[in-house]
Amino acid sequence: MGEPTKILLDESELPRQWYNLLADLPSPPPPVLHPGTKEPVGPDDLAPLFPKDLIAQEVTTERYVDIPEEVLEVYRLWRPSPLYRAHRLEKALGTPAKIFYKYEGVSPAGSHKPNTAVPQAYYNALAGVRRLTTETGAGQWGTALAFACSQFGLDCEVWQVRASYDQKPYRKAMIETFGGVVHPSPSDLTEAGRAVLAKDSESPGSLGIAISEAVEVAAGAPDTNYALGSVLNHVLLHQTVIGEEALAQFAKVGLTPDLIVGCTGGGSNFAGLAFPFLREKLSGRMDVAVRAVEPASCPSLTKGVYAYDFGDTAGMTPLMKMHTLGHDFVPDPIHAGGLRYHGMSPLLSHVYELGLFEAEARTQRECFEAGVRFARAEGIVPAPEPTHALASCIEEALRCKETGEEKVILTALCGHGHLDLAAYAAYLNDELVDHELAEHDVAEAVAALPSIPG
Ligand SMILES: Cc1ncc(COP(=O)(O)O)c(C=O)c1O
Repeated sequence: MGEPTKILLDESELPRQWYNLLADLPSPPPPVLHPGTKEPVGPDDLAPLFPKDLIAQEVTTERYVDIPEEVLEVYRLWRPSPLYRAHRLEKALGTPAKIFYKYEGVSPAGSHKPNTAVPQAYYNALAGVRRLTTETGAGQWGTALAFACSQFGLDCEVWQVRASYDQKPYRKAMIETFGGVVHPSPSDLTEAGRAVLAKDSESPGSLGIAISEAVEVAAGAPDTNYALGSVLNHVLLHQTVIGEEALAQFAKVGLTPDLIVGCTGGGSNFAGLAFPFLREKLSGRMDVAVRAVEPASCPSLTKGVYAYDFGDTAGMTPLMKMHTLGHDFVPDPIHAGGLRYHGMSPLLSHVYELGLFEAEARTQRECFEAGVRFARAEGIVPAPEPTHALASCIEEALRCKETGEEKVILTALCGHGHLDLAAYAAYLNDELVDHELAEHDVAEAVAALPSIPG
């Protein structure tokens, strides 16, 4: 038998702790500011939206946080997730590179999102909350939260970005199957939604607008909290189970990656895979390059500015220093709906400023081409989001073919594309257009950033 294709861990090897990269960084990220006073926010400012345990996780500098047994029990439905060696893709490309992918499509939602939805629902249920509101871009996060709420007896109400609501009717059906309620965003149910519709009744929506709607409803109802599927520190923390498992799986085959590649929307799947490896890098135990890949139509890391901005369109959230295209930026309706966010996680933005990873942007047609190539070799149809990382991996593997380098490449295959087949059909029928954000559009997009004294 040759080298293994599927590297598995036993249930007993499931990580018991999440890893917090903040504990190992040479400097802390800039503080999150109150939108009114422009002073650093305290736990009380966040209390209308989040339970105390999640607020504590948002600000903790402890290196490890224990995963509650109730959360581990639900994780066991699909975790530990498999690490695959892409033998067939390597062969199809004729590359000496060794390509691995950590596959999160085995989860109930079909992506990495339940890794944080489950603990978020758990801590809210523990705090006596009855209902969670949220936004969803690709529909993956809404599905994950609806599933998690069903596990802990909570109601779940989801504002789904209009473009994705229209592109993916089966996401709505899946959210409803798990017991959630779905509204297209912008909706006429909130002030934030009505304000957008008044300006543009045909608005395709954006994650920023959907966040405003979900936050507005949660802030106005005492039994209701809000849950975010990316961006915040506690979300990135929960996703580190991915990287911890991958480290253990690489140890089993006696290899270490030379390059890690992941797609970035708000940054959570990328951070989840990369942060435990960055711990190893920062401690000098491993030498690994790390690369984020974002859509050319929403390039917050590669073309955005590093500045204080709101997390939502209406300006209701605290101000976070992050790579941003401006909170009222509405990206083109590309099919990778989960990557259409104007900002980048403040923690990940800080890690980028520290020079700990590189970033690049890609257009959607080359990403779908990579997705199809991957599907034909490996038998998994990837979600449109991770095809961004796959396009980068394939290019790297073809470079290795020329140089003869046996580079070990690891990518985050953070979801399957079974509910994204309309996007694949559009690609295969040659109906997809590439959108690339021009420099002058970026200047326009960031023109309305809030001003911060000092
Ligand atoms: C499959 C998939 N990958 C990636 C993302 C992007 O989010 P993040 O950057 O938080 O991983 C999403 C978001 O919805 C998603 O559904």
